[in-house]
Amino acid sequence: TKSSHDYQPDIASRTPPYPKLLRKLHEVRRVLGPERQLTLAEKILYSHLDNVEESLLSNTDNGLNIRGNANLKLKPDRVAMQDASAQMALLQFMTCNLPSTAVPASIHCDHMIVGEKGADVDLPESIKGNKEVFDFLESAAKKYGIEFWPPGAGIIHQTVLENYSAPGLMMLGTDSHTPNAGGLGAIAIGVGGADAVDALVDAPWELKAPKVLGVRLEGELSGWASPKDVILHLAGRLTVRGGTGFIIEYHGPGVDTLSCTGMATICNMGAEVGATTSLFPFSTRHIPYLEATNRSAIALQAQTIASIESLRNLLCADENARYDEVITIDLSKLEPHINGPNTPDLSTPLSKFAEAVKTNNWPTTLSAGLIGSCTNSSYQDMSRAEDLVKQAAAAGLSPSNDFFVTPGSEQIRATLEKDETLKTFEDAGGVVLANACGVRKILIPCIGQWTRTDGVKKGDDNAIFTSYNRNFRGRNDGNPNTMNFLASPELVTAMSYAGTTTFNPLTDSLTTPHGETFRFNPPSGAELPASGFEIGNPDFLPTSGAPSPSTPVIVSPTSDRLALLDPFAPFPESDLKGLRVLYKVTGKCTTDTISAAGPWLKYKGHLPNISANTLITAVNAATGEVNVAYDVDGSTSSIPELAQRWKDKGLEWLVVAEHNYGEGSAREHAALQPRYLGGRVILTKSFARIHETNLKKQGVVPLTFANESDYDLVDACDHVDTVGLYDVLTSGGKGNVVLKVTKKSGEVLEIKTKHTMSEDQCRFILAGSALNVLAKMAKK
Ligand code: F3S
Repeated sequence: TKSSHDYQPDIASRTPPYPKLLRKLHEVRRVLGPERQLTLAEKILYSHLDNVEESLLSNTDNGLNIRGNANLKLKPDRVAMQDASAQMALLQFMTCNLPSTAVPASIHCDHMIVGEKGADVDLPESIKGNKEVFDFLESAAKKYGIEFWPPGAGIIHQTVLENYSAPGLMMLGTDSHTPNAGGLGAIAIGVGGADAVDALVDAPWELKAPKVLGVRLEGELSGWASPKDVILHLAGRLTVRGGTGFIIEYHGPGVDTLSCTGMATICNMGAEVGATTSLFPFSTRHIPYLEATNRSAIALQAQTIASIESLRNLLCADENARYDEVITIDLSKLEPHINGPNTPDLSTPLSKFAEAVKTNNWPTTLSAGLIGSCTNSSYQDMSRAEDLVKQAAAAGLSPSNDFFVTPGSEQIRATLEKDETLKTFEDAGGVVLANACGVRKILIPCIGQWTRTDGVKKGDDNAIFTSYNRNFRGRNDGNPNTMNFLASPELVTAMSYAGTTTFNPLTDSLTTPHGETFRFNPPSGAELPASGFEIGNPDFLPTSGAPSPSTPVIVSPTSDRLALLDPFAPFPESDLKGLRVLYKVTGKCTTDTISAAGPWLKYKGHLPNISANTLITAVNAATGEVNVAYDVDGSTSSIPELAQRWKDKGLEWLVVAEHNYGEGSAREHAALQPRYLGGRVILTKSFARIHETNLKKQGVVPLTFANESDYDLVDACDHVDTVGLYDVLTSGGKGNVVLKVTKKSGEVLEIKTKHTMSEDQCRFILAGSALNVLAKMAKK
């Protein structure tokens, strides 16, 4: 292996544009007045505004109530994409015909690495199985100047922390745990592909100004308590929805006692409480991490900025910054926590866990321990776990159950190999998996079906301990009866030796093969490798970020996984006539209902193929049937089949639904697919906000009933003309739309509707989609 000193990344593209950000912050202070005290989240966000004055003063009582009210138009510095979500982002980017991305970007092949044959067969087989997708991503990356990290290079969030995150940076990432980068002082937000495209083409990306939840850290961790316990404890206090609409900003004297990678673990799991993102201020603990990862120049610049204006600088909160809410955590008193099963906010302190196992009748046998993943695979995590393994090995003990280790990146893996940490794990019977979301012997332990080799069958109640971040039912092995308890890697390791869920390594002992009593000492480990990080396999280094315009993008015309996108047609220069109601949905209609996941994920880059899953779990309001649509002649078919049939006949349609249409994850396919199949209008009692925005971006008109009870008046196959829609669109959103509904009987009704289309969004719809607007701008 080569040492990281041999690797010379392009530091200029990895350095946040500090002079520009400092100028913007100066402008923000001028607009809001020098007295205004700002949180760190505000400083970084607002210094990325496209138009400071307009964003901060409109809709905000002249700047007094920005948080929760202002629509921030932001220009992020960087984009990171994982392989599954990068496909549609790149396909959309390509329709803009730009020679390169407007901001530096990277692609990370980690999610699509699957395998089950064991040993070293899986990585090559995974690559073979997804070859055309990887070839497409790599060729497009080369053409447009995106750094491409091949399969095996590592998990996106670990690679971003090691290479791209930096104090003061603003980054968008197409994965929900993107906030991991906040551990290094960045604002990093998880988004869908269409949002990433905004940044890639230099269009402002819109965000409702989040509120700021301050978490004040006091004291210092000791013994068994680890950074993971900070977020496990906080998740218990906030619950899975408690962070919604907030950025979580850590501050206080406890910050500098944490390692940089520990801060990243805490930010990573902020996603589990629904926060927009989480971040830490620039800390002295960031400096050795930046230096060890080839970024001394960035450390130096950050130090200079931090020293200029003392507590008013860009990289920390102003001294008297006001938080919308504050939670204080005393690290000195924090116990290890265990969260689960089935939800990350069911938090139990270790000292009460054995009792909780009894009370809730949770399994007492521990079936497997899994450490690592994007959440907890730092050098510090692994060396603390290694310390425990060495203690146990010296006493002649081995893990009592399966024990798996996932390094987060090739850099970590190679360093752990050189320092013989991996050997320690393997000698103890542990299985080291590839640097990805999961591979070898088991299938995606973090996100999918884990082929269990320990005799646990589907339906069997069993408990596993992981150092991961999510633990919804079935997430790891597809078995809804597997209870995944989240804990620190140290605790998962110790529990794996006991083989029981009731073990408390602080107070309980184990018996060695010689009949002696053994008790673990609290774990200790190094924050960073003494002799530096290794690069490892140079084949896993990224491609250059310089565009190569002559590179052909590889998409086979016969592929069933990838299809180039055709731009959607512009809106007609009139109202819409002759729409027909495709389906009237009753009950919940989430983005998962509109575009199902599971086996369909493999078609994420092929809009026609994935569209065959459109609304397939939607309940028919007239009959109660699922996915049974009725054509005008009474014949039945599935919803996507009927939509396709109407599309083939040139018939456009609308869907009628109830409340909170499009709730759930911000899946852009849920807006793209109806649009592709000929959907023009979605008429509901209410929308989930992000999905409503996504619809507008794809050129679909979201309307809500002015009188909710009118939902009862519309039926499948009714004939609908819009009245006033064209005027609304051409006037930048002024006025409302009436729907003229003609029933089968010939009766004609007028249904009043409301809308939330802004001037920009009207432009998207008129152009056919937001991308069409961007493409036009790009041409100019
Ligand atoms: Fe991968 Fe699991 Fe993290 S899927 S990105 S290791 S949450």
